Amino acid sequence: MDDASDIQKLEIRIQPLAPHCGAMISGVDLTRPLSPEQVKIIQQAWDDHLVLVFRGQQVSEDDQLRFASYFGEPGNRKIAPDHLRNRSEGILQNNPKFMLVTNIKVDGRPIGAFGDGDMWFHIDSGYSSRPYKYTFLYGLKLPKTGGNTMFSNTYKAYEALPAELKHKLEGRKALHIHEYKRNERVELAEDISKAPHWYHPVVICHPNTGKKALFVDRLMTRAIAGMEPEESEAVLDQLYEIGERREFIYEHEWQLGDFVMWDNLATIHARTWFPPEEERLLRRCTIEGEEVLG
Ligand code: OGA
Ligand code: MN
Repeated sequence: MDDASDIQKLEIRIQPLAPHCGAMISGVDLTRPLSPEQVKIIQQAWDDHLVLVFRGQQVSEDDQLRFASYFGEPGNRKIAPDHLRNRSEGILQNNPKFMLVTNIKVDGRPIGAFGDGDMWFHIDSGYSSRPYKYTFLYGLKLPKTGGNTMFSNTYKAYEALPAELKHKLEGRKALHIHEYKRNERVELAEDISKAPHWYHPVVICHPNTGKKALFVDRLMTRAIAGMEPEESEAVLDQLYEIGERREFIYEHEWQLGDFVMWDNLATIHARTWFPPEEERLLRRCTIEGEEVLG
């Protein structure tokens, strides 16, 4: 139980970081319990800004999980099928609630997941039947340059679709597949039964806000169900172009001690390249989601 005397007296400040997503929250120490009123303020800021940044934090695993739990049930790391396991599992990932997002290796073996280089825009666990609702990432070791995380507002992407495209996508589902690649498409000609995959509505209704959001991403969305392959490819290309428009993006340049949390149903995110000889380590946890609805 939280000790009431330990609750912070806070002056929570919310400063937008970009026109369409991202806000810096100051006046909160994530090592200490929060009152329901304080959680409510943060939840409202999250629904409004989709990506929240807390700077200068010193967060243990327990702190990270306690804070995450204010927003739902912490998710378990998803374990890849055997033949893809070496792309996702590191030797230091001992806690099922955490993923180490890192390129660090010990004796030639990755200690965590996601390795080097850039990552295309994606939805976390968009290939599963119940994609995570939220993700929390804490910066522990950073390269001098690069490795920024970019977020794009998918409510805005939906709004920006031409009317006839919105109409065409009504009631459609898309196939999301993951082969634990970071900047390559899955080859559809291959047998997909061995890679985790799921069909979700192309346009979803966000469970908190009731607003419509575009739910496709360049890394994992592979086809629109019921469309000829050529048309599906052309439509997906158009959706990626709209979803990744610079004007909808907040690009986060990490500083040590940054704690960043995002709404995984109202944003897509990507990572910029960073020099492979530099070490980068972030600690990630998530909140379980529900089936996503159109
Ligand atoms: C993630 C992720 C991006 C990054 O943790 O889900 O996509 O910047 N990370 O490492
Ligand atoms: Mn991700």
